[in-house]
Amino acid sequence: MIHRRRFLTAASAAAAFSAVPILRAQDGQKKYRTALIGSGWWGMNILREALAHGQTLCVALCDADADKLEHCSEEVNQLTGGTPKIFHDYRELLEKEKPEVVIIATPDHWHALQTIAAVKAGAHVFVEKPTGHTVQESRAMVKAAQDTGRTVQVGLHRRIGPHHVNALKFLRDGKVGKVGAVRCFVHYPGGKENPKPNQKTPENIDWDLYCGPAPLRAFNSKIHPGGWRQFMDFANGQIGDWGVHWLDQFMLWTEERGPRRVFSSGGRPISGPAVNTEKEMTTDAPEEQIAVFDFEGFTATWEHRKFAANSAEKHNIGVYFYGTEGTLHIGWRDGWTFYPSNEKAQTIHEDHQLQEPDGHSMKLLWADFIRSIETKGKPAATIESAHRSSVLPMLANLSLKLGRSLTWDAEKELVVNDAEAAKGLRRDYRGPWQYPGAE
Ligand SMILES: NC(=O)c1ccc[n+]([C@@H]2O[C@H](COP(=O)([O-])OP(=O)(O)OC[C@H]3O[C@@H](n4cnc5c(N)ncnc54)[C@H](O)[C@@H]3O)[C@@H](O)[C@H]2O)c1
Repeated sequence: MIHRRRFLTAASAAAAFSAVPILRAQDGQKKYRTALIGSGWWGMNILREALAHGQTLCVALCDADADKLEHCSEEVNQLTGGTPKIFHDYRELLEKEKPEVVIIATPDHWHALQTIAAVKAGAHVFVEKPTGHTVQESRAMVKAAQDTGRTVQVGLHRRIGPHHVNALKFLRDGKVGKVGAVRCFVHYPGGKENPKPNQKTPENIDWDLYCGPAPLRAFNSKIHPGGWRQFMDFANGQIGDWGVHWLDQFMLWTEERGPRRVFSSGGRPISGPAVNTEKEMTTDAPEEQIAVFDFEGFTATWEHRKFAANSAEKHNIGVYFYGTEGTLHIGWRDGWTFYPSNEKAQTIHEDHQLQEPDGHSMKLLWADFIRSIETKGKPAATIESAHRSSVLPMLANLSLKLGRSLTWDAEKELVVNDAEAAKGLRRDYRGPWQYPGAE
């Protein structure tokens, strides 16, 4: 096996994204008045990187959970000596603090309203993936960013992670040959899911605000913190959460804007049917799902399972590109590997260069975000391109819900000849929240 040590360092991988070198924070450089909305696990990961980069002055934190705010505020104080103001309602934060930069790391059903409000308030935004929860929300985010001219970076850090950049270079250099099929996947172990009794909402949480535009459900610690991903009211399940990262890898490679047809099937054969009663609930996202995205030049699939793990295959996560010269696997902690079609040729492998403990490349993505603001250049994960990747899980779930394939006009972003499916590109919001318009 040929073991490629790092042929791009982390810093040069970021620079490869742009001709403009990364600006290093030095004394005297501008510090951006920055607010974090959603101060849970990932919000803090981003904020730590923002503070470490050196051009961030954290002025405010916002969360619907007062305990999260307290922990986050304490950590900011330990890291900087400063004390950010704390808010429950992001609208009040934007109005009173007028931040120059806003980080949004709330559950997915909040991304659109908060991003749109933040750019309209004049802030540059770093919003977590996926862009929105339904297609028209995501389109409205694109429009708001374009109308206001603010820089919006989406948290697709795999775009800038060194082993991803290098693997895509290998692919673009033609080393995999002509690619006819792509397979994205995540396989984890799992099992039967028992319902959990609903609970009285803890006093520290503003649950009505947490649910926001989504249906108001009973409080259950299966949802908060972190578990909202597997509830379709708040997110798009495994394909929306993990899937968007891997679907995004082939969307970076293809020059096509989107698929012509989408079909998805899946269910909960092991975990059991979803439960949502006054007394108890389970998650409701599919535990196994296959989606087929039919592009003009290739077919892409997504598959996830939350049972059986995957000891039958070498990799349990990532994306395979199948080409005439062999198979390229781009993975997570397993780096990337090329398996040549010619059995006499050697396998080529490169290790990852991720930041631990959570295995990401946020340092690079944050530096790229600040560089984009300062140079008025494009960030690595523009809202336009992240939108095109983010809608793939949404379309797959719409197909799964309706039980039929969708014909998709990727230029106009319309479902063709299917009025019922077209309605599923948006959803009704719970008042007083209003669905954002993309028109
Ligand atoms: N890029 C990546 O690799 C990556 C990894 C993990 C998470 N994420 C993304 O980060 C985001 C947050 O995920 P997480 O795992 O930190 O979830 P989490 O549940 O730990 O944190 C979300 C926080 O948002 C808060 N919140 C809910 N409604 C709010 C509102 N209206 N205003 C303010 N705060 C509100 C919650 O109380 C919670 O503290 C998601 O979009 C997720 O997809 C990205």
